[in-house]
Amino acid sequence: MTGLGLGGLPVLAAPMAGGPSTPQLVAAATAAGSYGFLPAGYRSAEQLAGDLAAVREHTDDVGVNLFVPDDAPFDRAAVTAYRDRIAPEYERAGIAVPEPRWSDDDDWPAKVDLLVEQPVPWVSFTFGLPDAATADRLRRAGSRLLATVTDVDEARESAALGVDGLVVQSQDAGGHRGTFDQHRTPNDVPLLDLVTGVRAATGLPVVAAGGVTGADQVAALLEAGAEAVAVGTMLLLADEAGTRPVHRAALAAPDRFPGTVTMRAFTGRVARGLRNRFSTTYDDGAPVGYPAVHHLTAPLRAWAAANDEPDLLHLWAGAGHRAIRPGAARDILGSLCP
Ligand SMILES: Cc1cc2nc3c(=O)[nH]c(=O)nc-3n(C[C@H](O)[C@H](O)[C@H](O)COP(=O)(O)O)c2cc1C
Repeated sequence: MTGLGLGGLPVLAAPMAGGPSTPQLVAAATAAGSYGFLPAGYRSAEQLAGDLAAVREHTDDVGVNLFVPDDAPFDRAAVTAYRDRIAPEYERAGIAVPEPRWSDDDDWPAKVDLLVEQPVPWVSFTFGLPDAATADRLRRAGSRLLATVTDVDEARESAALGVDGLVVQSQDAGGHRGTFDQHRTPNDVPLLDLVTGVRAATGLPVVAAGGVTGADQVAALLEAGAEAVAVGTMLLLADEAGTRPVHRAALAAPDRFPGTVTMRAFTGRVARGLRNRFSTTYDDGAPVGYPAVHHLTAPLRAWAAANDEPDLLHLWAGAGHRAIRPGAARDILGSLCP
């Protein structure tokens, strides 16, 4: 049992939005004695309610992960210019370039209402913090709160809000970096040092995430003061994961996709994924601008997924992707425990 009460295993299933973390994967993690986090990002409140109901057929022990909406301004002219730059890819695919969509709250108010009506034991946040009133509502409903942080300053800010624990995410993590301010270039401090620094600064319980692929690493992070470790990439090929076939195939083809890179090219926010033609061609000069850039590339990515075209798809993966293997989530999580 971790001090946070997140299952019996020290290795947790990190939330992975966009398909990989299915309700089945989340339930399988909890059933294995680990703990699963259901991603709410990109889902409407109604879809989240359906996902939660599917998990609750198996267990009530679940966390829900929310994207905190970001309404900080960004350079719209740069995003519009990027639209022109990627337009030839749309032309080649035979689909129309979408009009810019400048804001999107990811259905945040309705999802918060849902979680107040149907509380879960844990709510985690990425891309920032909720306001104090929202944090209070969720806490009064019975949830404990976890903030994803990428440095000591974000950890201190989260502690001031009174969160119960921190997910400390390093640059090796697959998918988006949770950095509060999307304009900032995220740091490259190794996970072990981040954990030590955040523990020293806040004393809060810490879940460490980013590039973890083996039990030795888990042991070292626990030794450094983490309560638990969360893995995402290691679960991308799990039987229960909803990773798209084209993404699975790319992960299993190291000759063609040998490495990962951090990029803004697909979404306007820094994320780590397999280097492919789109990231190589467009990341240099790709603007800051989540979620506008996400919406700008979404139809192209949907086309790519439907047409088995990995070079136009965001193939999120962490720096440890070469270690991943298929199998049951229970076995993958178990193999990472020291
Ligand atoms: C495909 C994918 C989707 C992700 N989606 C989310 C998400 O919705 N919310 C979140 O907080 N983190 C998300 N992450 C980051 C993970 O929660 C976690 O921090 C990361 O996977 C840990 O590093 P690892 O991938 O090296 O194990 C995602 C990661 C991946 C690979």
